[in-house]
Amino acid sequence: MVAKPFKTLDDMGDISGKAVLVREDLNVPMQDGSVSDDTRLRAAMPTILELADRGAKVLILAHFGRPKGQKNPEYSLSKITRPLTQVLGRDVQFIPDCCGEAAVDGIAVMRPGDISILENTRFHPGEEKNDPALVEAMAAIGDFYVNDAFSAAHRAHASTEGLAHKLPAFAGRSMEKELDALQAALGEPVKPVAAVVGGAKVSTKLDVLNNLVAKVDHLIIGGGMANTFLHARGVDVGKSLCEKDLAETAEAIFDKAEAAGCTIHLPYDVVVAKEFAANPPSVRTCNVHEVAADEMILDVGPAAVEALGDALKNCRTLVWNGPLGAFEIAPFDKATVALAQTAAALTKEGGLTSVAGGGDTVAALNHAGVAGDFTFVSTAGGAFLEWMEGKDLPGVSALMV
Ligand code: 3PG
Ligand code: MG
Repeated sequence: MVAKPFKTLDDMGDISGKAVLVREDLNVPMQDGSVSDDTRLRAAMPTILELADRGAKVLILAHFGRPKGQKNPEYSLSKITRPLTQVLGRDVQFIPDCCGEAAVDGIAVMRPGDISILENTRFHPGEEKNDPALVEAMAAIGDFYVNDAFSAAHRAHASTEGLAHKLPAFAGRSMEKELDALQAALGEPVKPVAAVVGGAKVSTKLDVLNNLVAKVDHLIIGGGMANTFLHARGVDVGKSLCEKDLAETAEAIFDKAEAAGCTIHLPYDVVVAKEFAANPPSVRTCNVHEVAADEMILDVGPAAVEALGDALKNCRTLVWNGPLGAFEIAPFDKATVALAQTAAALTKEGGLTSVAGGGDTVAALNHAGVAGDFTFVSTAGGAFLEWMEGKDLPGVSALMV
């Protein structure tokens, strides 16, 4: 086995009775006081249980919302204690501060194998500033540091970055899986490589596109973004969402792709409607050159989707971010669902390594019923995007040996 560039739980040695600070991402969405998506809690489970079973005192560090350095009960992690208890099937205690006297008192009564959540790190102004004094104060209550929060690794905060320099630092199981999957997808991928990039606006994904055209063989552009590229190519996109002022930028991306040998795929048939509503009477499929002035493009058409599926059949690696159409509303989910199902089937057959992540993407794959069939689906939003931009993530860099 090739050695990893970072240490994992396998490298920790005997940790029984030791206090292990574990950075998790417990920033879960809430609705009416309960957790509406517990994906991140489930992702935290393997590391927490392994450390507990190895006899550590498990001290979970996390942020919750954006309280901006103020104590604010609305953002208290005490709200997550019970949901995490339920997911883990173990007792979880709450400790009302992540450092100082209250933390020391709380830890003093823990036995080996016990699990506690420490209060929101962002209640301290030093967290987001990566203040050495806060790093010092947190390091004082632990023997080891484990970072298991890939989805917060784009933040250079005290609990995501600073601590890794202060205590012996290790990647948790979830972090390890993310890093392995991302390495397989864009680090040293098996070629040919395809990328799907969708979403509303080119302007939010310029860095992603610029990075990808230099790395992948096929770049499939969907969503509102595709309209900007079509417009740049002289296509009349009617009243579609389109950033006309970015035509030159789009041209530069076309040029860069051509120089790098990357094929950019844009839809040649599209699903259009006069209003953005579920199953509008005006919905129709047409050639991309036949969009009327009062119509908008809301999805990739069936012929283009089939061609994209054929392109994927020749690829060995796929990285996916963003839906192809307005997938929240029927029937504009069809292209996303169809291509996701093709990718999932190719993955199951064993020919394709498929990695997906970022905000809407997970929701889109869940909607298509295939999230479980991709090789890996990231729990990260912003961090996944920054990784697709080719940026170093401070929380990850700090773990590298
Ligand atoms: C997230 O929810 O994307 C991460 O937990 C990071 O949160 P932040 O965007 O508030 O830093
Ligand atoms: Mg965010």
